[in-house]
Amino acid sequence: MQDNILEIKNLSKYFGGLAAVSNCSLKVKQGTITGIIGPNGSGKTTLFNLIAGNLKSSGGSVLFNNQDITDVPSYELFSKGLLRTFQIAHEFTNLSVLENLMMVPGNQSGEKLMNALLKPGLVAKEESQIKEKAMEVVDFLNLSHLKNELAGNLSGGQKKLLELGRTMMVDAKLVLLDEVGAGVNRTLLKDLGTAIEKLNKEKGYTFCMIEHDMDFIGRLCDPVIVMAEGSVLFEGPVEDAKKDERVIESYLGRGSKLKDN
Ligand SMILES: Nc1ncnc2c1ncn2[C@@H]1O[C@H](COP(=O)(O)OP(=O)(O)O)[C@@H](O)[C@H]1O
Ligand SMILES: [Mg+2]
Repeated sequence: MQDNILEIKNLSKYFGGLAAVSNCSLKVKQGTITGIIGPNGSGKTTLFNLIAGNLKSSGGSVLFNNQDITDVPSYELFSKGLLRTFQIAHEFTNLSVLENLMMVPGNQSGEKLMNALLKPGLVAKEESQIKEKAMEVVDFLNLSHLKNELAGNLSGGQKKLLELGRTMMVDAKLVLLDEVGAGVNRTLLKDLGTAIEKLNKEKGYTFCMIEHDMDFIGRLCDPVIVMAEGSVLFEGPVEDAKKDERVIESYLGRGSKLKDN
């Protein structure tokens, strides 16, 4: 039996009187690319914020590899290999693609300033190792030709690839992707999908991805979890989700539709 890398039990988040996430329980199996879909406002991003330590929960618990990580801050989770990307990419616009990757915290030895003064050789060696790693990442993502470009000049899709690249600078185990495909053109979406699949197969990343594009979900994800009103409405294969009466109704009820491409 596959282990659960993530287990959420009765998780809730209230904003004033509004329950954005409400008694939500779900499990994500190790090694999967699990999709999360649901109408706008169904609590998907809030759920990610709770898991990744960007928001404090109102109740319930989150287990990561059977360890309680409820309300653990994001920087601690980061060092445990639980990473997330944001619905809006968070690049440093005035730094190059390579520099953006090199900014990701990770294995740099702690007291950087002291080391710079006392052990310049060590710092230089670390810098060059980090740079080498960053070069590997741009190669992996087919962004080598843009490595010296300012991140602010990248297209929306290229910024999403860079977001994914940031997760590759550390040894990630679980990566939460929030609408990484939104606003990305068809060609780049394909690259993005290929990169996600490769990271899953070759590096053993487990992914949990919020996405609207049902083609993209269908190609990458199994299973898919459907959220409605802050909790899980359905879990299973994408094809079954598309046919499920309650799923269809939850989309219709919100005036949005289950997109097929
Ligand atoms: N910081 C916040 N303050 C108040 N309400 C919020 C906040 N974040 C989200 N919400 C509300 O919580 C609900 C769920 O939002 P969200 O998690 O962003 O949904 P989704 O990502 O599924 O579209 C929505 O009604 C939204 O307006
Ligand atoms: Mg959202």
